[in-house]
Amino acid sequence: MESEPIRVVVTGAAGQIAYSLLYMIAKGDVFGSEQPLILHLLDIPPMMGVLEGVVMELSDCALPLLRSVVPTDDPVVAFKDVAAAFLVGAMPRKQGMERKDLLSANVKIFKVQGEALDKHAKKDVKVLVVGNPANTNALICSRYAPSIPKENFTAMTRLDQNRAQAQIAAKVNVPVASVSNVIIWGNHSSTQFPDASHGTVHMAGKDIPARDAVGDDVWLRTAFVETVQKRGAAVINARKMSSAMSAAKAAGDHMRDWFNGTPPGKFVSMGVISDGSYGAPKDVVFSFPVSIKNGKWEIVQGLVTDDFAKELLDVTGKELLEERAEAIAVIEA
Ligand code: NAI
Repeated sequence: MESEPIRVVVTGAAGQIAYSLLYMIAKGDVFGSEQPLILHLLDIPPMMGVLEGVVMELSDCALPLLRSVVPTDDPVVAFKDVAAAFLVGAMPRKQGMERKDLLSANVKIFKVQGEALDKHAKKDVKVLVVGNPANTNALICSRYAPSIPKENFTAMTRLDQNRAQAQIAAKVNVPVASVSNVIIWGNHSSTQFPDASHGTVHMAGKDIPARDAVGDDVWLRTAFVETVQKRGAAVINARKMSSAMSAAKAAGDHMRDWFNGTPPGKFVSMGVISDGSYGAPKDVVFSFPVSIKNGKWEIVQGLVTDDFAKELLDVTGKELLEERAEAIAVIEA
């Protein structure tokens, strides 16, 4: 018997990440090749004309799993009965804008969307925030959706993880799928800590520590970290637009693993509500290594962090505390 369609919302649906992401979702890459879908597409009123074009193209893709498409500028319609939410739309940073101004614009957007999720979405909806500042936007969204568990709000650091994995694979000269368990700690910003010290590389029939495979600790602590931290800026410099294809792929990876789980012994990085593990501040959305089973993530425990790691974890944790304080100041103003 065929499964019932599930409703999935993508916000910022007329934007560039959504343009790749919608196709991936609608053809079954995220929820599986047997799962029919109803896609809800949210954007702002001035973008409704562009969105109409996206709807036409989705129809012209003639995708068997896509049962219907609901384009809208109304969060109430967009979040009605959704089982999964990709919150991609956000206020972009404009020239001369301070971080405070950016946070202030986004707090307003994620407050409205949190309230709409709270009232209209399924109570077990899985929410992935992609729009920046992703970690703090996820925190705010969750705050305004008290009837949905905090664990259901996550922020995307999977693109950073994929970038880190690709850097290691290129350095060791193995296919990217041979690299596992590389971690992104902290904020999806330039303070993030890409950490390969618990990673493995599959070579000659067995998993060996990534540190041994790379054989260059100085590179792992300098060029590797900086390349991953600054990769977004490098793509903008080259493309004159921000990462979109790779961001869409990462959003799909994040949600697919959240629904389907991680294999034994493997973990992925996700921005999740912090319980203070590894000395991270509590109650910020912090990227940790997580393993996933039955749709629930758990922070991987017991990894040993050295002084270098502790220092970088501290820096990114402090940035998240500052962002939270600034966001709360906007809410309470
Ligand atoms: P884009 O500017 O092409 O599209 C954003 C879309 O969001 C626009 O169509 C805009 O009208 C819409 N939007 C704005 N406010 C909205 C609201 N209140 N409700 C619904 N839609 C709204 O931007 P792009 O390239 O698709 O990026 C989207 C976001 O993702 C940006 O904030 C970007 O910084 C972030 N990003 C995050 C990454 C991550 O790793 N977490 C990686 C790459 C981008």
